[in-house]
Amino acid sequence: MMRLFDTAWLSSKIRIGIDIWRQLGGKTFFGRVLPWLFCRRYYFYSQPIHSTWPALSCSCPVVVKFADDNDLALVAALSPGDATVSELKKRLRDGHLCFTGWLNDKLVHFRWIFTRCLYLPYLHRTLLLSSFEVYVDETYTLPELRGRGIAAYTGRLLRLALFERGFKRYSCAVASWNKAQQKLTEKFGMEKVGEGGFIDFLLGKRFIWKGRVKDHGDGRIEICVPE
Ligand SMILES: CC(C)(COP(=O)(O)OP(=O)(O)OC[C@H]1O[C@@H](n2cnc3c(N)ncnc32)[C@H](O)[C@@H]1OP(=O)(O)O)[C@@H](O)C(=O)NCCC(=O)NCCS
Repeated sequence: MMRLFDTAWLSSKIRIGIDIWRQLGGKTFFGRVLPWLFCRRYYFYSQPIHSTWPALSCSCPVVVKFADDNDLALVAALSPGDATVSELKKRLRDGHLCFTGWLNDKLVHFRWIFTRCLYLPYLHRTLLLSSFEVYVDETYTLPELRGRGIAAYTGRLLRLALFERGFKRYSCAVASWNKAQQKLTEKFGMEKVGEGGFIDFLLGKRFIWKGRVKDHGDGRIEICVPE
């Protein structure tokens, strides 16, 4: 409740709400996204990283690179969340990676690649990652360029870049309402390995974990898939 007085948090939530509303329209927003606020379900996907992804075409000539500190002000400005530039810089210092896509020198796409254990505020849990595993989150394409294949195109290049860096497994979680992101993961043949989330209504949060998402019971979760 106190967070309602946190203006940065509140404005980021309003921005996210407007973004979703514009993308999905009022009917889906009220029918699918609002009920989700009381029943937060996330689908977990995972897959081995290899070097044989088929080439994908993209109607925009996007150039990709891993971000450095100088790019993070632009990333922060586009980020739907309320992370500050210094928090994003700390992510890079901690060894996480930010993969970016540029169109005529304009940042049009990014996603974060977490390379070690991290706290997932939206699930109130710390996700354990094995060595060589990455967890990809906060994928974002500029609203006016969505549906043009940018996330799919850069997703392939990201997997190739991660393969070259020696990473072996790619995991992510997708909100149950987010069909665009689900389609994106399925495009890469990612396997749905489990579900997690909570029901948040009157009696407080009741967590539910399914499939190969293991709750350790001490605030940590793990995606248990064979190496
Ligand atoms: C999810 C997101 C990153 C996809 O980016 P994008 O560059 O538009 O994705 P692509 O154009 O590469 O599309 C990938 C697939 O998703 C599908 N897709 C894109 N937008 C969609 C939508 N609104 N509804 C359903 N499917 C959609 C595409 O059809 C495509 O599949 P197809 O080629 O088989 O048709 C973008 O919609 C976005 O930034 N959303 C807001 C932030 C978000 O929800 N991030 C994910 C949570 S971390």
